[in-house]
Amino acid sequence: MLRSGRLGKLLRNAGAMAVVALAGGVLFNVSAVSQAPRPAAQPPRPMAYANALVNQGRKVFRYDDFGDDAFWGGALQLHRAIEGAANGGVGPGVSPKTALAVGLKVDVDALPGAVRRALAAGKVDLNSPATTLTLLKLKAVVGLTGHFNRSGTLQSVGITCAVCHSTVNDSFAPGIGRRLDGRPNRDLNVGAIVSLAPNLKPVTDLLGVDVTTVKKVLGAWGPGKFDAELFLDGKGFRPDGRTAATLIPPAYGLAGVNLHTYTGWGSIPYWNAFVANLEMHGQGTFTDERLDNAAKFPIAARARMGHTRSQVDRISSKLPALHAYQLSLGAPRAPAGSFNRAAARRGRAIFDTKAKCASCHLPPTFTDPGWNLHSPAQICTDDFQAQRSPTGGYRTTPLRGLTSHAKGGYYHDGRFLTLEQVVQHYNGCFGLGLTAGEQSDLVEYLKSL
Ligand code: HEC
Ligand code: HEC
Repeated sequence: MLRSGRLGKLLRNAGAMAVVALAGGVLFNVSAVSQAPRPAAQPPRPMAYANALVNQGRKVFRYDDFGDDAFWGGALQLHRAIEGAANGGVGPGVSPKTALAVGLKVDVDALPGAVRRALAAGKVDLNSPATTLTLLKLKAVVGLTGHFNRSGTLQSVGITCAVCHSTVNDSFAPGIGRRLDGRPNRDLNVGAIVSLAPNLKPVTDLLGVDVTTVKKVLGAWGPGKFDAELFLDGKGFRPDGRTAATLIPPAYGLAGVNLHTYTGWGSIPYWNAFVANLEMHGQGTFTDERLDNAAKFPIAARARMGHTRSQVDRISSKLPALHAYQLSLGAPRAPAGSFNRAAARRGRAIFDTKAKCASCHLPPTFTDPGWNLHSPAQICTDDFQAQRSPTGGYRTTPLRGLTSHAKGGYYHDGRFLTLEQVVQHYNGCFGLGLTAGEQSDLVEYLKSL
């Protein structure tokens, strides 16, 4: 009591002194005050600011195509393949069944109750492209934007970040459920979807090859893969003949991680600007003089991609919000019962000490704090993909939520089908001498992250 009483008195006295000081200051500085600009407005309160950014970023991530429909619809005419001849387009059209088969997902929350009930009752024609058009109108196809004419016909389509970096929880039916932003869509066959485009001329012109070659490259990608470097270096295949595409990575668990992408191209806002401009073909501004290196990036250097400037910029103003949203996406927790707890506890000790994993994958981010890039030789791998990046290295992958993207395998190209194979690789590479029991404990720990 005594203490708080004294403290209160102290504070009151301090307050009184401050008032006197303020008054003196005002009296003393009358002329200065009258000439000074108005005091700057307060910055927004941090939590309110963060919330507003994250909310805006979620909208951008899910629904914003940055005007890229001018490419996917306008140039490639993809919307006409979706409509099909029966609806004014070309070919058989894309029914919901076909869309689901190439890995596109449907957001059940975007469907009105009546549509949901009709779906559940089997009264919706999933073989009709007209149904796909309705789903597009409802903004229910994850990551695809439909632009419609006044008359209601499809004018164009675009893509958003969510087409690759979101999936759904299948709560309603396989491929139909609630959005799970940040999870890579390892069912999505981007190559098959792009191949549907009636006009691949913009792609063949850029790459300087014919349609057959482009289709061969796209056909080799398969589900869950995309090649973000193809438009820069034109390399469709690795020296061993396999596709040069990489797995779509998670966009969660990235807070606190320095370099991003498998080969450490740059920060999150760097890569977001890169992808929105150069891959999605949105309208914006992108600078990277590293792409002027014609030996490494012949196509990007010729097209001056590192100096991209659209007439209207629909990307740059959204980068802060998009960044905030990605940082807000935590990695999913491993479901209870999906791993052996006692073994995982033993595996953790092995990860931290004998297996030397934590010398790069340091918790809690599970990447190196600081410069998280390593030479291919350090992890006993080839340098093909590393050399397609300005860095020449591989970035230590953050390991949270590993089992939620098990499909397609591990490492940038999915060369290891299971976590067991990854551990065996390191056991040989580092000469760790782990027993079979230690290896399986380590795997249980990885599954728990
Ligand atoms: C067509 C599929 C596709 C689309 C669309 C796409 N991405 Fe990606 N994203 C990828 C692939 C593939 C990579 C890996 C690239 C690499 O490492 O070379 C990647 C990498 C990333 C990474 C790095 C992740 C890490 O582990 O560091 C982030 C962040 C990211 N994308 C965010 C976005 C955002 C934001 C958008 C929308 C502006 C977007 N992506 C659009 C396929 C896509
Ligand atoms: C020298 C640094 C370094 C050490 C030590 C290291 N890693 Fe890695 N790790 C990497 C890099 C770099 C990659 C990315 C490789 C790629 O994608 O080609 C990676 C990728 C992985 C992946 C694949 C993640 C994914 O989503 O594809 C797993 C799992 C993994 N490491 C586990 C381990 C384990 C377990 C150990 C210890 C036995 C270990 N790492 C030791 C650098 C390291």
